[in-house]
Amino acid sequence: MLGIIGAMNEEVELLLADLDTRGLDGPAQLSFPGVTLHRGRLDGVDVLVTVGGIGKVNAAMTTTYLLVSGASRVVFTGVAGGVHPQLRVGDIVVSTDCVQHDVDVTPLGYPLGEIPGETLAWPADGTLQALALEAAHEVPDVNVTGGRVVSGDVFVASPDKVRWLWETFGAACAEMEGAAVAQVCARHGVPFVVIRSVSDTADGGANVDYREFMPRVARHAKQVVRGMTRRIGAAQAEDREA
Ligand code: ADE
Repeated sequence: MLGIIGAMNEEVELLLADLDTRGLDGPAQLSFPGVTLHRGRLDGVDVLVTVGGIGKVNAAMTTTYLLVSGASRVVFTGVAGGVHPQLRVGDIVVSTDCVQHDVDVTPLGYPLGEIPGETLAWPADGTLQALALEAAHEVPDVNVTGGRVVSGDVFVASPDKVRWLWETFGAACAEMEGAAVAQVCARHGVPFVVIRSVSDTADGGANVDYREFMPRVARHAKQVVRGMTRRIGAAQAEDREA
């Protein structure tokens, strides 16, 4: 079963509108404190879709509920601030790996971003990455890149911080959830990928651009997820016929 998370309603409602709930065995929704998982099918693929809320704690909590409810791979979809100097609003980033940029245990000798006892960067699953990249290339008029997604409980809105994220971590984009999803998935041995559509360039105008472009670019991220479910659904149908 594929788990699909977005941080905000705008990022998930487009997928919920497409969810096929006909003939479901059991309830259409699974409810946990603060989290609702929507059961159904997209392109014939069994999915659990949820709005995870903003920030790393919400993302980690929601991911845990997804995994204990049976998600065996996870896709995070949403918007981000572009950090790579060539990224523009509307472009799509598929995660190669995720780092928590707001973790700092350097006084104890750990590299910036590294939680003691954990890896610095959680790599995305190769198969999900390839599927996401293929699907992203179908979205018209946008650039698509694979790159590092950095997460922190911070809305980045300063050129200095953007430079720091680029120089310190080689970040492609900054957001507030992906690395928390990655950490939980890694702990459970569950493959994941993060797909982010650039809503702003995380600079002084980020708050304005974010509000203006978020609804449009959220549609791009949704298109990528549907491109993935179409491919997974087609592969599953072929397997059934074989
Ligand atoms: N999500 C979208 N834009 C962002 C930004 N600039 N910082 C953090 N998260 C974001």
